[in-house]
Amino acid sequence: MILLTGATGYIGSHTWLELLQAGQRVIGIDNFINSSPKVLARLEKLSGKKLEFLQGDVCDPVFLESVFQSFPIKGVVHFASLKAVGESYSNPLLYYENNISGLIALLQVMQKHSCHHFVFSSSACVYGDPDVSPVKEDADLKPENPYGQTKLMSEQILRDLEKSDSKWRVAYLRYFNPIGAHESGMIGEDPNGIPNNLSPLVARVAAGRMEELKVYGNDWETPDGTGVRDYIHVVDLARGHVKAVEHLLSGKPSLTVNLGTGVGYSVMDVIRAYEKVIGRPIPYRVTDRRPGDVALYYADPSLARDLLGWCAERNLEQMCADSWRWQSQNPMGYES
Ligand SMILES: NC(=O)c1ccc[n+]([C@@H]2O[C@H](COP(=O)([O-])OP(=O)(O)OC[C@H]3O[C@@H](n4cnc5c(N)ncnc54)[C@H](O)[C@@H]3O)[C@@H](O)[C@H]2O)c1
Repeated sequence: MILLTGATGYIGSHTWLELLQAGQRVIGIDNFINSSPKVLARLEKLSGKKLEFLQGDVCDPVFLESVFQSFPIKGVVHFASLKAVGESYSNPLLYYENNISGLIALLQVMQKHSCHHFVFSSSACVYGDPDVSPVKEDADLKPENPYGQTKLMSEQILRDLEKSDSKWRVAYLRYFNPIGAHESGMIGEDPNGIPNNLSPLVARVAAGRMEELKVYGNDWETPDGTGVRDYIHVVDLARGHVKAVEHLLSGKPSLTVNLGTGVGYSVMDVIRAYEKVIGRPIPYRVTDRRPGDVALYYADPSLARDLLGWCAERNLEQMCADSWRWQSQNPMGYES
């Protein structure tokens, strides 16, 4: 059985579905700090299976102990963390507490229960402003913000743990920029409060839920002046986790891989692709750059292909079409 933390969140919910469809038994946990319990009924409908889920906090060792006592957990996929870069500047202690204490509490309980397979949600944030793109996994690690620091520190904690006991097997998955939604339109990204990432923001502007999209700077050193990122469809990303779980459970060694497409798209490319899908213009306004943002980066995803046999299959148009299906079928997210 696989434990998913942060299971009702954006990437967690899509991964849960893919793991069930790949035949894995899954127990999900979440405290709903950034997700809705309503995702559970949607996942049951999509998977045709009764879900196993417990509400609780990964920073709570008593809760974690009860989860490990109740289920035969062979491996953990750890999504639960806070992820808003801006908020991590204004409230760094919250980020260090949640993301680092949660990780340590989880690893301690795993160790006690002799469970040593761990898939970690790392981020391209660990590279900061990379010197070159495509970015390889051996690039310098120099996060630009407290959120990215929590990811690098978490990687360090896990690497030290691996050195202390050879039974540990860790997949460090460095995600680039997940967007899109499940093709059914039944699950998607629905953050509490004001979204922080481009995809839900474009979707909300397209739906008229927000007046205009802010484009943070058009004077970057990129072909059209707007920031360039490696957008990856969330279902492709979820499938990368299935491969990582299978890799670790089959006894293969730890790995550190980028999960991206290898293609960089600018903010304007995303706006244009979205406009094509909805058939009308997206209102936007160029504003100042945001602190901690960088001009351009995209992944070299070849190591994930070589080690996991995984590569992203969906293009930008599919990402935008699926995002729009989710948004238009659920104008107020899960509360619709
Ligand atoms: N979405 C991205 O752009 C992106 C990029 C790189 C890495 N990541 C990482 O991937 C993981 C999943 O991201 P996501 O986009 O699905 O975010 P999300 O906010 O949608 O999901 C995270 C989930 O974790 C839960 N959670 C947070 N703290 C918790 C705690 N203490 N106890 C229990 N549950 C808790 C939240 O309620 C939420 O459901 C995170 O670790 C994030 O840092 C995300």
